Amino acid sequence: MRRGFFITFEGGEGAGKSTQIGQLADSLREEGRTVLVTREPGGSPGAEAVRHVLLSGAAEPFGPAMEAILFAAARSDHVEQVIRPAIERGTVVLCDRFLDSSRVYQGVTGDLEPAFMETLERVTVNGMLPDLTIILDIDPEEGLRRAGARRGSDAPDRFEKETLSVHRRRRRAFLEIARAEPDRCVVVDAEDPPDKVAAGVLKAVRAAMARAERESALKPMRSRA
Ligand code: TYD
Repeated sequence: MRRGFFITFEGGEGAGKSTQIGQLADSLREEGRTVLVTREPGGSPGAEAVRHVLLSGAAEPFGPAMEAILFAAARSDHVEQVIRPAIERGTVVLCDRFLDSSRVYQGVTGDLEPAFMETLERVTVNGMLPDLTIILDIDPEEGLRRAGARRGSDAPDRFEKETLSVHRRRRRAFLEIARAEPDRCVVVDAEDPPDKVAAGVLKAVRAAMARAERESALKPMRSRA
């Protein structure tokens, strides 16, 4: 491959993103690829410092715009310090949540202005758009049940604790993004058994990588947006 490949995983709570990312990383490493697994909010020292402020709910009283800006600050650091250098080295980057989580959690269920969200996204992502986004789709009731079982006696975080109707809006918003951007997004049913989900993910990844390789062979001088 001429350069790395950037894959993001998105979806509601309890969709099994980390399990699927781990399995995909194993499969790609078996094929001899160099893989970096990372996550948001976090993934770089600067962004990890902001993570706790967001997930503890410490920023919640200051409103969704404050939270959106903090997610954006964390993302900008993560992109410039970790993701872009890895992609330039030819690494396959697997990121647990990225820009679509901000679009959905802050933009849609935080009711923020689309123009504000678009500007924030443009400056933070700074051209580093995912080559592929896997949306793990799950009924929020089932997802919250799974997330609760995994968490045990710990309290739900700032975003997980919201009402079922908020989680339903988020699910619809992720599916809407997938419909609007079919070249970038693939929806995988996360209620299937984990091995079946993993097979669906791997199939989508292989297809997207093969397409990118065909495109770069056709346009060797193409510069990425
Ligand atoms: P985390 O504990 O990392 O777990 P999971 O991804 O498994 O839910 O929680 C991250 C939380 O932050 C999650 O509830 C989604 C939320 N979030 C946003 O609201 N906006 C964002 O831009 C990102 C990256 C995450």
